Amino acid sequence: MNSHYVITMNGKVLICYGTRYGSAGEIAEHIGETLQGHGAVIDIINLKKDKVNHLEDYDIIVVGSGIQMGKWTKESLKFLKKNRAILSQKKVALFVSCMSAVQQDKCNQARRDYLDNVAADFPDINPFSMGLFGGLLDSTRGNFMTKTIMQALVKSLAENDDAPQERVDLRDWEQIRIWAEGLLEYPFDL
Ligand SMILES: Cc1cc2nc3c(=O)[nH]c(=O)nc-3n(C[C@H](O)[C@H](O)[C@H](O)COP(=O)(O)O)c2cc1C
Repeated sequence: MNSHYVITMNGKVLICYGTRYGSAGEIAEHIGETLQGHGAVIDIINLKKDKVNHLEDYDIIVVGSGIQMGKWTKESLKFLKKNRAILSQKKVALFVSCMSAVQQDKCNQARRDYLDNVAADFPDINPFSMGLFGGLLDSTRGNFMTKTIMQALVKSLAENDDAPQERVDLRDWEQIRIWAEGLLEYPFDL
């Protein structure tokens, strides 16, 4: 029988992420604030810095990553791999932060490459929701190589000859909030 699962005040959500430049972390915070506003208890973990304990305690586990050269962070992939057995018993959602999410000609392929294909690598996990979000292009951060690539990415987005901006935030916070709220209610077999 299909029913709805609505998280209660006691529902616990883990949001863990891997990031190279900070974007996925800020998205994780925004998801966390949204869910907290609905009464969920939230833990947010940067997988590069902290370990996750007691996965069994969580009702929903959200795993996110920034994308670089088409790849997730190794921390997020390692987390999925290491915990695949317990994650297969849990409600899992995935998200990524990348530039292609906002490019009309690239976003469908990005969803396939960065979400569908990654989920397919862990068939036992079977995520119930996957969010494709824009990224942050900040050419003031990182080493020379990163800054140069960021500048090139910003330039590729510009529609005219205006001087490219140093920092372009492609994240749609309203889209992320709506996606987060969608995690709280979804059909599943009782
Ligand atoms: C070196 C570099 C490579 C990138 N490669 C891709 C890419 O292959 N596909 C894409 O959509 N975005 C790409 N981006 C944009 C990033 O995904 C975007 O900046 C994102 O916000 C990074 O997330 P993070 O800060 O959480 O690591 C790249 C950015 C940099 C600096």
